[in-house]
Amino acid sequence: MPNESIWDEALCRRYADSMRKLARYDHRGVATRIARHLGGLRPRATVVEVASGPGFLAIELGRLLTEPTLVLVDSAKPMLSIAEEEARRAGVPVRTIESSGDRIALPDASADVVLCKNLMNCIDASQRIDVAREIARLLAPGGWAFVADFDVAGSRLAATLIGLFTRFLVGAEFHRDFRAAFARRLDPGPLAAVLAEAGCSTSIERSGPSFLLVARRAQA
Ligand SMILES: C[S@@+](CC[C@H](N)C(=O)[O-])C[C@H]1O[C@@H](n2cnc3c(N)ncnc32)[C@H](O)[C@@H]1O
Repeated sequence: MPNESIWDEALCRRYADSMRKLARYDHRGVATRIARHLGGLRPRATVVEVASGPGFLAIELGRLLTEPTLVLVDSAKPMLSIAEEEARRAGVPVRTIESSGDRIALPDASADVVLCKNLMNCIDASQRIDVAREIARLLAPGGWAFVADFDVAGSRLAATLIGLFTRFLVGAEFHRDFRAAFARRLDPGPLAAVLAEAGCSTSIERSGPSFLLVARRAQA
């Protein structure tokens, strides 16, 4: 899934239909880890998910927070229509913005939490840096960013086992896409450096095939 232009209606539907079966294992687990970091988050916080896809991570996290404002950003219009359907079904209100992740029409420092999961392996190294800068721009003082993706140091054994599980649960086509995405695994270091330059403290949590880059912008 190397660039944004390939995300047509058919691919968006196929991705969402597959991921819906996996979200309780994948996105719910990530959301639970994120919510632990956000222990003292104020009610009605603004959560922006960059490259939300069908919105499963924001929806799962939204269930764990108090009256959040959820903003889903994706470059594929069909994906945002699907995300709106998913959110309606889940009873979680969302706003959507059709936009590339490196130039989002939201003001500086307007997000308490920014999420970005499995976009970075789909784009080239220079666009990754632009997206990381955009995430930093959106973060309010004291705000948190979480970037999850396939890790260059990730466990191949874990990827193989998860791949077999997805093949069993979702099918051969998704399994092929999963393997291709894992093959594009990346180093979170340069992304952490961008967020650190922008005044965030950062840490990288490694688990199975993936990393979770955690960044917190200093309080004003
Ligand atoms: C592999 S999916 C991940 C979706 C979701 N984050 C998840 O974890 O299920 C990648 C998503 O990134 C979107 N995308 C691709 N390039 C993008 C870009 N440059 N800016 C914003 N979204 C992009 C695609 O439309 C797709 O919804």
